[in-house]
Formats: sequence, C-alpha cells, structure tokens
Amino acid sequence: MNTPASLPLFQSRVVPVVVVSDAAQAVPMAEALLAGGVDVMEITLRSAAALAAIEAVARAVPAMQVGAGTVTRASEVAQVQAAGARFGLSPGSTPELLAAVCAAGLPFVPGVASPSEAMAARDAGFTLLKCFPAAQLGGVEVLKAWGGPLPDLRFCPTGGVSLANMGSFLTLRNVAMVGGSWLTPAAAVEAGDWAQITRLAREATEAVAALRATR
Ligand code: 3PG
Repeated sequence: MNTPASLPLFQSRVVPVVVVSDAAQAVPMAEALLAGGVDVMEITLRSAAALAAIEAVARAVPAMQVGAGTVTRASEVAQVQAAGARFGLSPGSTPELLAAVCAAGLPFVPGVASPSEAMAARDAGFTLLKCFPAAQLGGVEVLKAWGGPLPDLRFCPTGGVSLANMGSFLTLRNVAMVGGSWLTPAAAVEAGDWAQITRLAREATEAVAALRATR
C-alpha cells in the first residue's frame, strides 16, 4: 500500500514532527517551514487541536504537503483523511491499522522496531517504514544491520534525530528520509517565534543540499 515513490514526502528528506496545542498555530508554522524550504509536515494526533490543524493547513497552505502523525488506531484513518491529510505515519503497525489504511487508500508509513515487524509490514504491502524510536534502538548501526537481510525496504528513522546526526542517517542506502521534532521546538511554537522555525528548516534544507552535492 505504499512505495517510497507513491508518497509525497519522499521528495523531502526531512519530515518535521509537529505537535500543536492550538489549531491557530498550524498555518503560520506551515508557512514558516515553507519559507525555510521544507514542504512537508506531520501533524501528530497528540493534541485535541490536531485534526483542526491539519484541516487548516490543507485549506490555507496548498503548497504544504500535510500529513497526520501518531495515527495509532484504525478509527483515526477516516478522520485524518476527512481533515485533508495527504499521508499518515504511525509509531507502530497493527494489522487493524494497516488494513484500515489499505481500505482507505491513504499513503501511509507504518512504524517498526524490529525485522519481524518490518517483514509483517512488507507482507501487508508497505516498503517505506518508519524506524521508531531510531536513536534509542541503536541508530545508524541498527539501520545498517537491517539493510543486509531486508535490502528492498526503505526507512524513515525518527526519534532522537537532529541536525547534528541527520546526515549520518541520510547517507545510508536504506534511509529515504528522517523525521524529527527538532524543527518545531515547543517553546518556539508557543511563543509564535516563526522566524526561528524558518531558520531551523533552512539549516536542515541546506544540510540535505550539502549531502546531495557530495554524492
Ligand atoms: C515521533 O513521534 O516521531 C517522535 O516522538 C519524534 O521524536 P523526536 O522528538 O526525538 O524527534
């Protein structure tokens, strides 16, 4: 039900993991990320404001590819799709959740933390998987190890990724993109410091461009 190429976020190699406490934060945040060259964002279902935030960005900022994160229940799939999410991500991958996203046709990145989970997700038709929590699982070394027996799978490591270590993940052959909350720090969001978010997004965009240039 996904391949890397079928997902809009594959074009960007950095996916901001966003928590909003107020839906009104979402549009200026999306604009700030775009100004820094990041055209994809994952609004996590970790706050009551998340669905309204997805809806606001989908309506007001068409250049931003907005998706839903922390989709952990099958019942949430229809809700995020109705809100306008173009894709979804999850920290895990239950059979019920994967069946729901397949039925809905929502591009989706299920989360895995082991080869067995990755194989089960592949059996369900998913070849781009979120490796979560990446740093805590062992970081780059774990992804390198998975690349041997599972060469056809691609990963989005998330959890403990930052500007400082994103390059070491992105140079791995089986890493399509990285996700992280470092681009939208809670303090900056609460303060409405959109300039800081643009700065962080630009740093990440420039780091990705520098990696491309060295290849
Ligand atoms: C996620 O849900 O993807 C992670 O909580 C993000 O992890 P980070 O805060 O370490 O970037």
